[in-house]
Amino acid sequence: MKEKLEKIKENAKESISKIQNLQELQDLKVKLLGKKSELSTILKGLGSLAAEERPKIGSFVNDVRNEIESNINEAEKRLKEKALSQKLEKEKIDITMPGTKIKRGSKHPINRVIEEIQDLFVSMGYDVVDGPELETDEFCFERLNLPDGHPARDMQDSFYITSEYLLRTQTSAVQARTMLGNTEKSPIRMICTGKTYRREDDATHSHQFNQVEGLVVDRKELNVSLADLKGTLEVFVKKMVGEKSELRFRPSYFPFTEPSYEVDVTCFKCGGKGCPLCKKTGWIELLGAGMVHPNVLKMNGYDPEKYAGFAFGTGIDRLAMFKYGITDMRYLYTNDVRFLSQFDRKDEE
Ligand code: DAH
Repeated sequence: MKEKLEKIKENAKESISKIQNLQELQDLKVKLLGKKSELSTILKGLGSLAAEERPKIGSFVNDVRNEIESNINEAEKRLKEKALSQKLEKEKIDITMPGTKIKRGSKHPINRVIEEIQDLFVSMGYDVVDGPELETDEFCFERLNLPDGHPARDMQDSFYITSEYLLRTQTSAVQARTMLGNTEKSPIRMICTGKTYRREDDATHSHQFNQVEGLVVDRKELNVSLADLKGTLEVFVKKMVGEKSELRFRPSYFPFTEPSYEVDVTCFKCGGKGCPLCKKTGWIELLGAGMVHPNVLKMNGYDPEKYAGFAFGTGIDRLAMFKYGITDMRYLYTNDVRFLSQFDRKDEE
């Protein structure tokens, strides 16, 4: 009997050592130790042995069983380690492979220019104010010295919604709102950037565009003068289109300023020599500006005897076109990513 058990033990050891995977090991375990195994049969047959033999053989069977179990446990450990290292080998990540680039969006050129303008004027002590795009005739025209029937209304072809409401044609409307809203009559230094609308549609005009408006009003004895306007615009234009630019103030007409000027800048493409962009004149028209008309001050709650001010306005889209060399204004509004991605964080890096 002992020999038989010794044989079972040896055979078991050998079979266990040959096992290559966990499933096979599980099957072998059932075969070696399960109810139908040779060992179980021997255990069941112990009763038929002589009484003095029984405990000896019984304890020997148990030893064999323990030995087989510990062999199986060892094999299990070995196979698990093998499986893990195979898995790790298969799932190895090649950290030298090039990564997939995640495409990030980019700021619209118009928003870039707006932020640049706002930063500049805030650094000079201006407030950034806002106004409605759906404006009344009163604020867009009347309070800016443009009464009904005034010929200068023809300068701006408007989108009227009703006879009273229209899409604002100019951010100048915010001048009147700011003055009228300032009940304390404290000094005003403001800029307003925003969308404006006119009935136009060609390569250099869009029916929707952006303007920036500036307004400074203070007591007359503080000498708010044309010199201040000139100095301010010089800083503004040089910052936006280049330090080498020169400005030219040309007398002009706007109903809300007196005197009024159109401000030209030396062509930033040819430096003033003359090229197709400046139509060979060396100058590019950039802004409208002037001293606030006494009527406008009066109509919006400021006594023109005591207060004076200057104002200016310009198209932001034109500024963006000049700054980035964009040839057709409509590119700014078609939102073609191929166009927009060209401005990918260029001046943020
Ligand atoms: N609002 C004028 C326009 O849209 C531009 C302008 C001219 C604004 C003179 C001003 C100004 O503030 O003083 O054509």
